[in-house]
Amino acid sequence: MGIKCVIAAGGLGTRLQGFRDNDKTKVLLEVNSIPMINQQINQLNQWGVEEFVIITNPNFDSLIREVTSQAFPDLIIKYAIQDNPKGISHAFSKAEQYIRTGDTVIFVLGDNFFEENLIKELDLNKFSDEGGCIIFTTKVTNPNEFGVASVDDLGNVTHIEEKPKQPKSNLAVVGLYIFDSLAMDNIKKLSPSSRGEYEITDLINIYINEKKCTNVEFGGWWVDAGTPDRIIELENLLT
Ligand code: DAU
Repeated sequence: MGIKCVIAAGGLGTRLQGFRDNDKTKVLLEVNSIPMINQQINQLNQWGVEEFVIITNPNFDSLIREVTSQAFPDLIIKYAIQDNPKGISHAFSKAEQYIRTGDTVIFVLGDNFFEENLIKELDLNKFSDEGGCIIFTTKVTNPNEFGVASVDDLGNVTHIEEKPKQPKSNLAVVGLYIFDSLAMDNIKKLSPSSRGEYEITDLINIYINEKKCTNVEFGGWWVDAGTPDRIIELENLLT
């Protein structure tokens, strides 16, 4: 049973079209001269991960394969196409063919970067025995722009909501999650939300209802590099 990292790189990154003459997808944009997708693989590889599944957009699948396989010949990297960007859980479901029963799956959104190694304190062997889901949160002043979690004193997640108008806490759920292999079956139980997407928060809700979702709150910086300003911020933080 292995640890696999699934990277969601299926969106188009429309808010970054035209930035530095970008006519491709966000994850191919260079961050300090390295394509964002390779910065993402580097981040997780520094945390000890060696097996990856990249979920791509059909227009950029071959470019993403080329850029990543050239840069990381020693890593195991598989690819799956998400034909339509129908939500983050939908992107995640495309990894199913590569996930084996008992695997521990780290799911990361391609544009999320962190100062700290978020998994370094975790006992992943224990996780693999017990299963469930782990989310990572940090305190923010604008929780309504993110998934927002409520957590009890023991670190169990009691509630999660996508971009709520009236957030119940200031804990933003960042774009990195750990799931057991049952996630691939749980996704099949989801229906599209009111905005027509298979939401990651709805998948997490299944685990919350089974009392199998725990929270890790972290400090240090976090960048969701979806806009030009945040790419520049990330470049400064990575140097
Ligand atoms: O950054 C953290 C936030 O990321 C979380 O707090 C939210 O709960 C989560 O829904 C997500 O919100 P965003 O508004 O940032 O999600 P966005 O639609 O921008 O998608 C994030 C990345 O996921 C994007 O860079 C590409 C990938 N993606 C997205 C969709 C909708 C896919 O690969 N396929 C998709 O269908």
